Amino acid sequence: VLGALGAVTVLLFGVGGSAGAEDGYRLWLRAEGGGADVTLPCDEPSETLTIARDELSAALPHGTVRFATSSCRGEGSPRLPRQRDVGEEGYRIAMDGEGYVITARSDVGALYGTYRLIRAVSTGEAMPEDGLTEQPAKRLRLLNHWDNLDRHVERGYSGESIWNWHLLPDYLDPRYTDYARANASIGINGVSLTNVNADATVLTPPFIEKVAALAGVFRPYGIKVYLTARFSAPIEIGGLETADPLDGEVAAWWKAKADEIYAAIPDFGGFLVKANSEGQPGPQDYGRTHADGANMLARAVEPHGGIVMWRAFVYSAEEPEDRVKQAYTEFVPLDGKFADNVLVQVKNGPLDFQPREPFSPLFGAMPKTPLLAELQITKEYLGFATHLSYLGPLWSEALTADTHARGKDSLVADRVDGLAGVANIGTDRNWSGSQFAQANWYAFGRLAWDPKAEPEAIARDWVRQTFTDDAEAVDRIVGMMMRSREAVVDYMTPLGLTHLMGTGHHYGPAPWVDDLGRADWTPYYYHRATKDAVGFDRTESGSDAVSQYHEPLASQWNEVETTPEELLLWFHRVPWDHEVKDGSTLWQSLVAHYDRGVAEVQAMRETWAGLEGKIDEDRYAQTADFLAIQEKEARWWRDASIAYWQSVNGLDLPEGARPPE
Ligand code: GCU
Repeated sequence: VLGALGAVTVLLFGVGGSAGAEDGYRLWLRAEGGGADVTLPCDEPSETLTIARDELSAALPHGTVRFATSSCRGEGSPRLPRQRDVGEEGYRIAMDGEGYVITARSDVGALYGTYRLIRAVSTGEAMPEDGLTEQPAKRLRLLNHWDNLDRHVERGYSGESIWNWHLLPDYLDPRYTDYARANASIGINGVSLTNVNADATVLTPPFIEKVAALAGVFRPYGIKVYLTARFSAPIEIGGLETADPLDGEVAAWWKAKADEIYAAIPDFGGFLVKANSEGQPGPQDYGRTHADGANMLARAVEPHGGIVMWRAFVYSAEEPEDRVKQAYTEFVPLDGKFADNVLVQVKNGPLDFQPREPFSPLFGAMPKTPLLAELQITKEYLGFATHLSYLGPLWSEALTADTHARGKDSLVADRVDGLAGVANIGTDRNWSGSQFAQANWYAFGRLAWDPKAEPEAIARDWVRQTFTDDAEAVDRIVGMMMRSREAVVDYMTPLGLTHLMGTGHHYGPAPWVDDLGRADWTPYYYHRATKDAVGFDRTESGSDAVSQYHEPLASQWNEVETTPEELLLWFHRVPWDHEVKDGSTLWQSLVAHYDRGVAEVQAMRETWAGLEGKIDEDRYAQTADFLAIQEKEARWWRDASIAYWQSVNGLDLPEGARPPE
């Protein structure tokens, strides 16, 4: 069907060394030169629908775009799709004679339909004869920027914060519009602008004006703005003596603050809060609970339709309990005590964005509380922007995990109300620090829209939209991407090892660090290697973290034999000569994993080298250079890790293993 309308050609800048430099700025929004006739909803074309028209005209210049002449948005209109089919944000794309007709129940729904159509045309996807009716599975699809007001980005590896607070509100960098486009094109509908380690200054009047200016740019793209709320703000910028959530003056201060924000930004989304975590202030400073704190803020935004996203990333050095158990211990007793407009935001794993960890047991343990899954798009523990690691498989593993909370098939994806992704966006020309890091931004949006989507299909779309539609090249690049996360696990933290990264920066290996003064930040605490054994005993006879999971997982993970090998050393302390499933010893298997990780990066380099000439020169060259860095650093991880384990276990390198170079 699509063929009749002519496929779009994705224009490649610089192919064969011609044309200008391609720096990755345009992300996956490159479709241009195709054609399709499209009809958009009508009435009075809004700013949002005008954007939709302009996007279609730019991406499909050989077709025509028009607004329908008859009413197609009003209730009762024959064209209006049904609420249950498209909800508030979905769309219907139908075939009408030679062209497409996009209908929706909201303007932003039509805009999403527009980007969806552009994607279909530019990836060569055949449109079903009876059209396409889609809506997001989740209502909250949010980016969390960890951006400080001085423009330093916490765990950011792609330049400075794109928010130029100094020039706001008077100068609106066109980049804000490009950012909004990119987000809308993948369905992201909210962005929290500021670091979770929050600075209260953003809540002062001059900054509220700046935030309002950004909200004005994002609004036509269906994106709401959220802010982090520093819990001690009433003291720091309000002149109060306390921030106790049960103090009437404190509650009144937050209520007035919320009113002030909503007066400037009527569709403000709400607050994101990190409290009593890693030194941040919070309700426990006053002997109150997380629920007391969250509910007080929730009451302030509730009259305006706002929400509070209260993070469950809590652990304390003073607490003797295994760090990965602490969030559950603190939050599960509060289930049912949170106000309706509070969501508890839970990182995918119980530790901290490791290359692999089991899903957080909180997803199966707070049935009365709306939850958000927090994922990290920026690769704090996965080699920063330089290492190619496509995170679709990591996130999908967490989202499709079965908590067994209500029997079999209790998937994390079904449990959460939305996804929050810690952004990897900065002022680098390519936005994300490397070409392939863009794929993680893209995949996050696509999974927030549909958490059960196949990461491989998402990668395929991204490659087609970003690089090329040459089928063989697409296959090769997608193949690289799909193996890249496991490669990182293999050369950094195989077999369930975790948190072995250099302290503070989290880049590069440091399993030998054993004396930081804080066990919970010390690599040794997580692997506990001795001459005889390695791993963290989280079974019933150890820290008993297994008991935070439902059956049958608790029993399965309590036994070495029934624990998946990729989580072995997360749950168990295992002798070096323990026999693993393939018959080799744990030591042999560990070394084989490191070797495999390095070999996989070598293979990625070779695959990429074979694509020279099929990808524009600049993006080809940068990626080739980054893969060379990744190979060097994969060897560093392997060789340093193996040398350290040998210094502890005294074992020789297994036969057949590559000797460290
Ligand atoms: C990690 C990260 C911190 C961040 C914290 C959080 O620990 O290293 O930089 O502040 O997560 O999620 O709050």
